Amino acid sequence: MKKKALIIGGAGFIGHHLANYLAYKNYKIGILDNLSNGDKNNISKKNTFYFEDIVHGKSLNKIIQKYDSIFHLAAKIEVQSSMNNPTKTFENNILGTSRVVESCVKFKKKLLFASSCAIYPLDSKNKFKEESKTVPNSPYSISKKIGEDMINFYLERKKINAIILRCFNAYGLRQKSNSQYAAVVPKFISNAKKNGYLKLNNGGNQSRDFVYIEDICKAYYILNKLKKVGTFNIGSGVTTKIKDLAKIIIEIIGKGKSMKGKKNKGDANYSCADIKKIKKIGFGNTIKIKEGLKKII
Ligand SMILES: NC(=O)c1ccc[n+]([C@@H]2O[C@H](COP(=O)([O-])OP(=O)(O)OC[C@H]3O[C@@H](n4cnc5c(N)ncnc54)[C@H](O)[C@@H]3O)[C@@H](O)[C@H]2O)c1
Repeated sequence: MKKKALIIGGAGFIGHHLANYLAYKNYKIGILDNLSNGDKNNISKKNTFYFEDIVHGKSLNKIIQKYDSIFHLAAKIEVQSSMNNPTKTFENNILGTSRVVESCVKFKKKLLFASSCAIYPLDSKNKFKEESKTVPNSPYSISKKIGEDMINFYLERKKINAIILRCFNAYGLRQKSNSQYAAVVPKFISNAKKNGYLKLNNGGNQSRDFVYIEDICKAYYILNKLKKVGTFNIGSGVTTKIKDLAKIIIEIIGKGKSMKGKKNKGDANYSCADIKKIKKIGFGNTIKIKEGLKKII
């Protein structure tokens, strides 16, 4: 019989790629999303869609009961908007996650929770290991840390089968480039295609661990099959400076110019995943940034 996976937040960027990937691996897919940031066009007609909200939805328990594994990716994801309106982010991400976790405990479902590298400190010079200290510094990252704490509370009591995934900077097809807080990759690609400027805040000297969407889907897939529980970094394990990212994109597209941007105080200078832990369970080599960018451009 086909395994059944519910992807909460499955109309969003990572969620809809994950739905396609798991369907290809022969899973039966359900998508639960309130479409606050997701796109209905991202949902394949072959999948069952539940238009539901994890904070207020009355059918959450009923839906979760029908699936074997629950991939919880729903969240308000913009760091800056979480600074402007913390309560909205806290309500959505903390209360929503609490309802999902409680339901997984009650109905004994495997839970995979999308946490984030944002919970690591901003001033590190070394790769982050899963046991590195965490210093959440925005309402968004606080909400992710509290999500982890909730899950760990039940893990310590052996009341849940759960995996926490700390994803680094995801990129891939159909990532939004038009919102105020769009991720740097789609924003740079969109500007370069218009022969516009690619703004390098802080001189573009910040290093980031960009991880291709297919690698992220693979990580969720192998972690769902894993019998153990725990926390895993999901990254490529290598960094690219933002100014080099701009250079590569301009080179591939053959248009666009980089220019000096603003000085941003709260921007980490270095962020990179140590991926030894997930490599041990068969994660393999990840797609190199140039290759990934060529695929999506
Ligand atoms: N994109 C990244 O680089 C990245 C990095 C680290 C962690 N993450 C985490 O991965 C997850 C997915 O990220 P994404 O980039 O695909 O974001 P996204 O905004 O594209 O997807 C999130 C989805 O959740 C839905 N959603 C939000 N609140 C909801 C609610 N209350 N009820 C039901 N659905 C709701 C949205 O409509 C959206 O479709 C998020 O939890 C994010 O924090 C993403």
